[in-house]
Amino acid sequence: MLGGNGRLYAIIGFASCLVFIYMSFGDLWINFHGRTNLSFVKRNGTQFIVDGRPFYFNGWNSYWMMDQCVEESSRPRIREMLQTGAKMGLTVCRTWAFNDGTYNALQISPGKFDERVFRALDYVIAEARQQGIRLILSLVNNLQAYGGKTQYVKWAWEEGVALSSSNDSFFYDPAIRHYFKNYVKRVLTRKNTFTGIEYRDDPTIFAWELINEPRCLTDPSGDTLQDWIEEMSMFVKSIDRNHLLTVGLEGFYGPKNSKRLSFNPEFWAADVGSDFTRNSMISTIDFASVHIYPDHWSHIQNFEYNLRFVSKWMISHIEDGDKDLKKPVMFTEFGLS
Ligand SMILES: *[C@@H]1O[C@H](CO)[C@@H](O)[C@H](O)[C@H]1NC(C)=O
Ligand SMILES: *[C@@H]1O[C@H](CO)[C@@H](O)[C@H](O)[C@H]1NC(C)=O
Ligand SMILES: *[C@@H]1O[C@H](CO)[C@@H](O)[C@H](O)[C@H]1NC(C)=O
Repeated sequence: MLGGNGRLYAIIGFASCLVFIYMSFGDLWINFHGRTNLSFVKRNGTQFIVDGRPFYFNGWNSYWMMDQCVEESSRPRIREMLQTGAKMGLTVCRTWAFNDGTYNALQISPGKFDERVFRALDYVIAEARQQGIRLILSLVNNLQAYGGKTQYVKWAWEEGVALSSSNDSFFYDPAIRHYFKNYVKRVLTRKNTFTGIEYRDDPTIFAWELINEPRCLTDPSGDTLQDWIEEMSMFVKSIDRNHLLTVGLEGFYGPKNSKRLSFNPEFWAADVGSDFTRNSMISTIDFASVHIYPDHWSHIQNFEYNLRFVSKWMISHIEDGDKDLKKPVMFTEFGLS
């Protein structure tokens, strides 16, 4: 009996020791790789690839990171959050790499940047690298928060070069397209003041996202937005061949997408100027993105109904990625009020 127990304790002791070694050195090993040699995320068909192996991940959104890092005193909060994410096993974070014309703006006016805020973005990227977290960086907002396309149109008015006061002229006005390209070029070629690495050469960046939730209501045919995505994605690729690129779509199907139209949350969703399949098909777009806001998108506030919608919405987009696009599909935002 006693001997048996002795052996049991020995086994438990040995097992705890193994667990201890794994926890100490397994973690060290991960950090070593995270800290010193992250490699670029690539894609092979529908899969993300890192170092030749499929890369699966979970992640989160913290749009406010750059904004929070402008004040040096609040920077420890960012480190803490990234560490917390890493401990939870999350490896990708999506955040804003823009703030146009508002408080703590990165871009104060077209082509004019606040170095203080650029350093804040440098810090976010450097700190993510330290924690082994990769970032999806979005380049402009369709919505008005942090400036967005409304701010670009306002600037064009102020400089007397605007074609129209419509917010959608962001997509078709040549002067505004030029503003945006100028912005993209400055960000992609920025040399990080903490790491000395240009953003376009930094594998900490998982991908660029052209625009958060683009909608172009003035052209429901979708041609205007399609043309903008084609031009801007080619422009990004002409500067940066290292990183993956996505659009930032919500995932709605357009009016000509007869196969998928019935999967939209409601009729209006077909007329916001986007089409998930057509937009994501563009060869310079590497993967597709989808958002999920069942109760916000529908006037039917019934949990079972919303749940059924989400299930169909996810399955249809996964099938699109698998069969039509042959690209990965990422669900980049979801929420239920
Ligand atoms: C980093 O990883 C890349 C790709 O795996 C490899 O080619 C390179 O030699 C590594 N660099 C260092 C310093 O280990
Ligand atoms: C890409 O995927 C295909 C099909 O799964 C596979 O045969 C091929 O070896 C992969 N290529 C790379 C470079 O991983
Ligand atoms: C542009 O969008 C903003 C924010 O939604 C709105 O306040 C403004 O009236 C819009 N401008 C035009 C000309 O529609």
